[in-house]
Amino acid sequence: MRTQVGIVGSGPAGLMLSHILHRHGIESVILEQRSRDYVLGRIRAGVLEQATVDLLVELGLDSRMKREGLIHTGIELQLDGQRHRIDFDALTGGRAVTVYGQTEITRDMMDARLAQGGQTIYEAEDVSVHGIETSKPSLRFRHNGDSEELQCDFIVGCDGFHGVCRPSFPAGVIQNFERVYPYGWLGILANVAPSSEELVYAYHDRGFALLSMRSTQVSRLYIQVAPDEDLKQWPDDRVWDELSIRLGTPGWTLRDEKSVTPMRSFVAEPMQHGRLFLAGDAAHIVPPTGAKGLNLAASDVKLLSDGLISFYATGNSAVLDGYSRKALERVWRAEHFSWFMTSMLHRTPEGDAFERKLQRSQLAYIFKSRAAAASLAENYVGLPFD
Ligand code: APR
Ligand code: PHB
Repeated sequence: MRTQVGIVGSGPAGLMLSHILHRHGIESVILEQRSRDYVLGRIRAGVLEQATVDLLVELGLDSRMKREGLIHTGIELQLDGQRHRIDFDALTGGRAVTVYGQTEITRDMMDARLAQGGQTIYEAEDVSVHGIETSKPSLRFRHNGDSEELQCDFIVGCDGFHGVCRPSFPAGVIQNFERVYPYGWLGILANVAPSSEELVYAYHDRGFALLSMRSTQVSRLYIQVAPDEDLKQWPDDRVWDELSIRLGTPGWTLRDEKSVTPMRSFVAEPMQHGRLFLAGDAAHIVPPTGAKGLNLAASDVKLLSDGLISFYATGNSAVLDGYSRKALERVWRAEHFSWFMTSMLHRTPEGDAFERKLQRSQLAYIFKSRAAAASLAENYVGLPFD
């Protein structure tokens, strides 16, 4: 088998990349280790920056998002039971975010890819990467019991944090930067209309809580717990009680969809070696507090596709060679913002009183100062691609 760009992973990064390339006449094949149903069954993020929405519009992938996505012109920060609105519209000159589940975007992109006749090989096992320092790299894998090889011009690792591509860089090429937080989020999907129009990020002495949503009928709620929290200790009643205490507005019935997300910040530099590129979670992780994970996958893919399109049009690799440097600038801005939101809003288990004072002061500053609120708003809605 042969293609121009071999993509590992059919999450948002891999699918978006394949769509952009297709529109520019560049062929790609996606190898995904899971089944289509498994990928579509995962509950993932839900907040899209304006630039991510614009990219989906440009790709013609916005028809359902336009109907079902919820436009949010602000968020609420809560302290001592009081909610304070961060007005994106006023603070950023009319920018906003769209709430539309990553699972739905993935479904829209998979359907569109099927309609275009693009090739995705699901349940591709034991994918391995070869020849990245040559001009003829390849991917080997097993499918339906047969050994296969896909020859490519370029390989892009869109295979998430636990994928095979990042470990395929030769030893010593990658430098890792990491912070692991001493808490996780227990997330639930509640089959009920959200009890607030806006997302609410709540600071509480018992720990952080977040009210989010997937639609006008489905709420997505999180509470801070230990990173290795035992879900068995959290029957619905306890989750319910804790959410009611921390968010202070009861009224939900809970659906049985619970999970604990550990919180981590991680960046691998550089994001390219030879003919192997990394995009999305394969290269970096953010804690979810800044709602940046999916949006970073989109911006990586936009920058990388600019390079690939330019290479195929001109034979010149200058734009492609700048990918890692350009992408990392945006990655580090999002890393900082996600770390900032996370450390401002969570309770550290040791209960450091000094830290609590600093957090409260920072929140009070954002409530009072237009400049501080504008900085938060500008980062939350996301900076433009260029
Ligand atoms: N071989 C083939 N496919 C693989 C392999 C492998 N060895 N390892 C992982 N994959 C697949 C996974 O099954 C998954 O479908 O790669 C895909 C990676 O997708 P995501 O984890 O969704 O990562 P990405 O596309 O970068 O999207 C980033 O996803 O998790 C969220 O918060 C994250 O919103 C962010 C977004
Ligand atoms: C979500 O809806 O899943 C969500 C929203 C905002 C975040 C994180 C997750 O910061």
